[in-house]
Amino acid sequence: MTKPTTLHEFSPGLADVPAARSSISYVDGQAGLLEYRGIRIAEMAAHSTFLETSFLLLFGHLPTPDELHRFSQDISHHRRIKYRITDLIKCLPEQGHPMDALQAAVAALGMYYPARQVLDPEIQYWSVVRLIAKVPTIIAAYHRLRRGDHEIHPRDDVYHASNFLYMLTEKVPHPSLAKALDTCLILHAEHTMNASTFSGMVTASTLADPYSVVASALGTLKGPLHGGATEEVVHMLEEIGSRERVRTYLEKRLAAKHKLMGFGHRIYKVKDPRAIILQKVARGLAEDCGASTLLDLAEEVERVGEELLRDKGIHPNVDFYSGALYKTMGIDPDFFTTIFAMARVSGWLAHWLEQIKDNKLFRPDQIYEGPHGRAYVPIDRRVRGVE
Ligand code: ACO
Repeated sequence: MTKPTTLHEFSPGLADVPAARSSISYVDGQAGLLEYRGIRIAEMAAHSTFLETSFLLLFGHLPTPDELHRFSQDISHHRRIKYRITDLIKCLPEQGHPMDALQAAVAALGMYYPARQVLDPEIQYWSVVRLIAKVPTIIAAYHRLRRGDHEIHPRDDVYHASNFLYMLTEKVPHPSLAKALDTCLILHAEHTMNASTFSGMVTASTLADPYSVVASALGTLKGPLHGGATEEVVHMLEEIGSRERVRTYLEKRLAAKHKLMGFGHRIYKVKDPRAIILQKVARGLAEDCGASTLLDLAEEVERVGEELLRDKGIHPNVDFYSGALYKTMGIDPDFFTTIFAMARVSGWLAHWLEQIKDNKLFRPDQIYEGPHGRAYVPIDRRVRGVE
């Protein structure tokens, strides 16, 4: 007999309920600590690259030079997307949300690379390579095609982040721009049991293919309480407009019980360690490019927001500074969450590999609060509200 669930055990939003055992990443929300496979995020941001970080997350160890060379080569050789995927992207409405375009194209990718044998190591490896390689190509293609520009084919002689910016602009970017994007990708690659990862894991637990796993996670990441906040932060900054208006705007917004976008986190009770690094990267880039206005405004919002929300343990999260950075890179605001996705695909797939190694179908319980034993009333005798 199954154990009856009591109201006492219910945790809204599954807060503090462990959903898996994992050795991929670790977060301490009080200390502001995030580690990938035991290595602190600041170390990764200072010394690693996104592809090396992906390898670490996926396979559990830092790669040797040969392993990294092979992984990077495999990824650069699989960047192209089939012309039919490009055709599919061309058919999508230009006013649609880029996350929907990405989700549709990733689901369609799975039709070209059937991966039903999810326990086959070859299928696992090549699915991971294809998804990490092709997601940036899809994003860049939609970024250009919806403006009426032609898509730019990827280059396999250019590093991951540079290649992405190249596919947006047809120019190999300045190294400082590519480095800043690569750091953003490292910082967004993984973050324990968050909503999109959980969503992907639920799909993975049915032994669905990895393209469906990523498509599920993409749908969840899109929401404004999760990855969608990056875009909302920039809208909020644009609405504020100038440093002088910050305090009045924030006070009004909080009085109306609206949240400050890019602030707050289920786990962090201090400033998100990724926001600390991103702020420095954004400052460096803004100075290099002479474009610091949005960042100056963001820093003022942080200062006043901290003052107003500190008592609740609410501080800037990873999404707070990434928007200002992506704007400096010339990326359209509604594409910001797709950059998050381009990074997080590695984390989602690391969890996919971990999940299916020792799988159990996710099938949580619920607390039923409805009636029992009601009579079926024939349609000609039904009166709304009276039964
Ligand atoms: N601005 C103002 N108040 C806030 C904020 C915020 N950004 N975040 C939380 N609060 C307040 C709530 O109003 C609530 O106050 P109350 O107790 O007086 O009612 C209290 O803090 C608890 O908030 P919850 O939303 O219940 O806490 P939860 O842990 O579910 O929130 C969340 C986490 C969803 C991220 C929330 O902080 C939020 O909505 N932030 C804004 C959106 C955002 O930036 N999301 C990105 C998160 S990072 C990521 O997903 C990559």
